[in-house]
Amino acid sequence: MSHSRISGTGGYLPERVVTNAELETLVETSDRWIVERTGIAQRHVAAPDQICSDLAEAAALEALANAGIGADAIDLVLVATSTPDHVFPSTACRLIERLGIAPGAIAFDLGAACSGFVYGLDVADRFIRTGGARRALVIGAEVFSRILDWSDRSTCVLFGDGAGAVVLEAGEAPGILSTHLHADGRQTPLLNVPWGVAQGYESLQGSHGKVSMRGNEVFRVAVRTLGALVDETLEANGLARGDVDWLVPHQANIRIMTATARKLGLSTDRMVSTVAEQGNTSAASIPLALHTAVSDGRIQRGDLLLLEAFGAGFTWGSALIRY
Ligand code: ACO
Repeated sequence: MSHSRISGTGGYLPERVVTNAELETLVETSDRWIVERTGIAQRHVAAPDQICSDLAEAAALEALANAGIGADAIDLVLVATSTPDHVFPSTACRLIERLGIAPGAIAFDLGAACSGFVYGLDVADRFIRTGGARRALVIGAEVFSRILDWSDRSTCVLFGDGAGAVVLEAGEAPGILSTHLHADGRQTPLLNVPWGVAQGYESLQGSHGKVSMRGNEVFRVAVRTLGALVDETLEANGLARGDVDWLVPHQANIRIMTATARKLGLSTDRMVSTVAEQGNTSAASIPLALHTAVSDGRIQRGDLLLLEAFGAGFTWGSALIRY
């Protein structure tokens, strides 16, 4: 059985930046409230004609270039998203054509909300370790702005659009050391989009097909759950607090991220944070943060990384990686 390792990262953020000051003109909020409660100063929002596969394609092209391979070498495409282009075909299938991947590759989308990228990494790693694939593109891509109620101050200030991607390749040395995935469907009312295709398009008009969240309650569950996830990941790998080089967390809220870093025994300068510039890009936030810290040279080959996420479902998961 071979192992899998990350050979390239990429990211894409739409050009348009929406600052907290701009949101002050839309809803009753303030830059001060948003920064103090979340750490977010701005977010990127897709142009009206940009859809999920546009963002995903740009991030994937950069990841392929950084891995030094062509799209024709890819045999598995996974797109983690809650905002796909279509009901079907999947966004991953569209990328086969758009990127020029050889027809016959495996491709599917994966829904685990903000934990989607960690779920995707786990699935791709298993494909590679069992010989079902040799080179995978794992992408987190979101046009979350489309499912936000821009008159709801408790959610519209939190999210942004973007895409991040990694190329995962088979290799001799282990790169993905362990993954830990979980879900619990009992608290759906705390965080959901209360409309789905199964209800029929006729029911969309007049319904609230946008993100709904009881943020304060989600916050408390997230901090508690991520603390336990850190313990689980360290224990499974025989590690102690302080042994990990970098925390690459899902970028929901700087206070949740800092609490997790503390739990890991890391100072905040060992935590990759993009939340101020990008907000919460859901499934895209971890690969975007990873790409940022690899590109600016903070994360080096051989570093030990802990990726973690918590999101709607609830879903949560971590990946321990030797980069
Ligand atoms: N501007 C000003 N005031 C606001 C705003 C805003 N944008 N939003 C809410 N408020 C008000 C509330 O109405 C409330 O007012 P009240 O006391 O008069 O009722 C007050 O601020 C406090 O609200 P809380 O919700 O208690 O604020 P909190 O400190 O919890 O911060 C936040 C809210 C930022 C949403 C936080 O709870 C959070 O980050 N939660 C977790 C989010 C998360 O991790 N989600 C999972 C991933 S997302 C996914 O999976 C799709």
